[in-house]
Order: sequence, then structure tokens, then C-alpha cells
Amino acid sequence: MTEKTIAVVPGDGIGVDVTREAVKMLAALEEVLSIRLRLTQYDYGAERYLATGVSMPPGGLDEFRQHDAIFMGAFGDPRIPDMRHAADILLGTRFQLDLYANMRPVKLLDDRLCPLKGRTRTDVNFVVFRENTEGLYVGMGGIFKKNTADEIAIQEDVNTRKGVERIIRHAFDHARRTGRRRVLMSDKSNVLTYGHDLWQRVMKEVSAQQPGIEGSHMYVDALSMQMVKDPAQFEVIVTCNMFGDIVTDIGAQLQGGLGMAASGNINPAGVSMFEPVHGSAPKYAGRNLANPMGAALTCQLMLEHIGVPEAGRLIEEAVVSCLAAGSTTKDLGGDLGTSQVGDALCAAIRRPSGR
Ligand code: NAD
Ligand code: IPM
Ligand code: MN
Repeated sequence: MTEKTIAVVPGDGIGVDVTREAVKMLAALEEVLSIRLRLTQYDYGAERYLATGVSMPPGGLDEFRQHDAIFMGAFGDPRIPDMRHAADILLGTRFQLDLYANMRPVKLLDDRLCPLKGRTRTDVNFVVFRENTEGLYVGMGGIFKKNTADEIAIQEDVNTRKGVERIIRHAFDHARRTGRRRVLMSDKSNVLTYGHDLWQRVMKEVSAQQPGIEGSHMYVDALSMQMVKDPAQFEVIVTCNMFGDIVTDIGAQLQGGLGMAASGNINPAGVSMFEPVHGSAPKYAGRNLANPMGAALTCQLMLEHIGVPEAGRLIEEAVVSCLAAGSTTKDLGGDLGTSQVGDALCAAIRRPSGR
């Protein structure tokens, strides 16, 4: 029997709601496959931070490292406007576990969910690799003369040779492994003439070493437009941390919205963390409204990554069949609640048909 250990951090807001459904679904997978998933729940998030002042306790990351994978819901609470706890928990995990490849598939699973006229499942099926440990996210900079007329605010954009090269190589490796033939690098090198000049040079160098895979380039403003105009042209996109954040929200909408988008924060040599792309959506929190399918598809990525592809396949089939049956939350036009969609996903996993 395959046994895997997973650290589960529901977090805040709808992170809690969708993680509950993801956990239910993992239990259903245990019933139908010969796998044992040992989950350890962690209460890191806004409540704990507000009550104790502790976001990530000492040793928390070391505990994460003892697992085969980490699943996180979402972080963000209006009572913590500077997102201090999320910086420690979410960005802290990404940075300190060196999860440099943020993989965000953009895959339409039901034609009716695409907001683009006439586009179908064959048109929307690509993967974005977002650099996940550098760029504008490193928190270098400062504020001088705060709250005066002479205030200066500086936020540095850090791009290292090692960081840029490894994410670009990762994108090409993924393309090769999955039979894709095109990798597009997106930057703003026409304006960011230092940091993104590095991206240009590394892309040219790496892409010259990739027989059979075509490397190409688009400025990120043009990419944003082309993702809407003709998403079928993309197979693998690689970009920096900030742009990756933005274009994957556009990508999420191409799949039916933030409730449908999944992501993996990958360290190919260590433990990786998986989270839906959406945030804590405070106005939906605890109201049985959030769509749990992005969390389900995030479990798919996680289980595929840790070597249980048959579980991943069952999850995707379950999502596709629930979409086809209209068993969805309001954001997708359905009339079910979060937990009812979770039940429908579990029922689809347990159904013998298709196996
Ligand atoms: P959000 O993703 O939480 O929500 C934006 C909107 O998208 C929602 O109002 C809702 O209409 C829709 N949406 C998102 N997830 C959905 C779901 N599962 N089902 C149905 N609809 C869904 O983004 P936001 O409102 O900009 O941010 C809220 C908080 O979450 C902020 O504190 C933000 O910093 C944080 N955030 C956290 C993460 C994360 O933890 N990974 C990601 C993004 C935003
Ligand atoms: C995401 C989120 C995070 C990010 C925030 C909450 C720090 O928007 O995962 O897309 O910007 O990376
Ligand atoms: Mn984001």
C-alpha cells in the first residue's frame, strides 16, 4: 500500500472552507485506491496570529520538511491589512523551502466555463511557470521620510543568474517531459533594461540548448492581450514572480474563474507545497459559497507530483463529471454549496464507472 504524509494548512477565510472539501476528497480516494494519506493539520493563519502574535512557530518549516507534500488553503484577513502573517507563512514557505517553480496550469475543463466567444477545451490548455523566490517579492527596499511630503518608497526587483536560469530550465524540462513543443518567456525587457535583460540573455542561452522545443518571447503587456485574443497559441509560459501572479489570474478566468485554478510551488529536490490560486475571499468565508474545485485540482497536482497519478486522474475525472452534471457552486452558474460540491466530487470518485 502506498503511504504518503501531507501537511495541511487551511489558513484563512474560504481557505478553511475549500480545504475541508479537499480533505473529504482525499479520504474518498483512500477508499477506492490502495493508498494511505496521513494528514497533519496546522492552524497557522490569522486567528492564531491575532491570538498569540505567532504566524509560523519556530520549527514549523522543519515539520513541513518531514512530509511528502504541503497543502495550503489561502491566507488574508481584513484585520491584518499588511498581510504580515501571510508573508511569514505563505511567502516564508515559498522562499525558505526554495519552492522556485510555481506551476499554474490553465486548463479549461468544460467549454461552457470559458468567457471567450467560441473557445473550447482544445483552445485553453497551457501551463505558466512563475519564478517563485525572487523578483519584486523578496521584500528588499524601504521607506524613507514616511508620511512626509518628501517620502521615498523603494521596492527592489531582484533577479539572479541562478534564479532566472533554473526557472527557465524547469519550464523547458516540463515541456520535454509532457510532450509540449513551445516555451514562451515573458518579460518587460524593453523597459526593465537590467533585470529583464538578464532574462533575455538566459532565455537565448537555454533555448539554444533545447532541440525540438521552440523558444519564443512576448512582452508581458502583449502576453496579457494574447491570452485573451488567442490562448490556443500557448503551451508553456515562463515569467517572473510579479508578472506570473498577474497573468495567472487572467488564466484563472479563462478556466472559469479563480475558483477553478490550481497551483504547485515546486522544489524539484525537496518537499513541495500546493495551494489553489485564489485568496481568502473574506466576503464568502464560512458561508458555504466558495468553489472547492480549484482546491480539488490542486490536490490533483499534489498527488501527481508525489507519485500517485491514478489519484490525480480520478480527481480530474470527478471535476469534469460534476461540471458536466451542473453540480457546481454559484460562481459557475450552479446552485450547490461548497460542501455539496465536495460531496458530489467524493461521490464521483467512489463511482465505479470509468474504472
Ligand atoms: P480572492 O481570490 O480571495 O477573491 C477574489 C474574488 O474571486 C472573490 O471575491 C470571488 O468573487 C472570486 N473567488 C475567489 N476564489 C473563489 C472560490 N473558491 N469560489 C468562488 N469565487 C471565488 O482575492 P482578493 O479578494 O483580492 O483577496 C482576498 C484576500 O486573499 C487578500 O487578503 C489577499 O491578499 C489574499 N490572497 C491570498 C492568496 C493566497 O493565500 N494564496 C491569493 C490571493 C489573494
Ligand atoms: C498568489 C497570491 C499571493 C502572491 C499573495 C497572497 C502573497 O496573490 O498566490 O497568487 O502574490 O503570490
Ligand atoms: Mn495572486
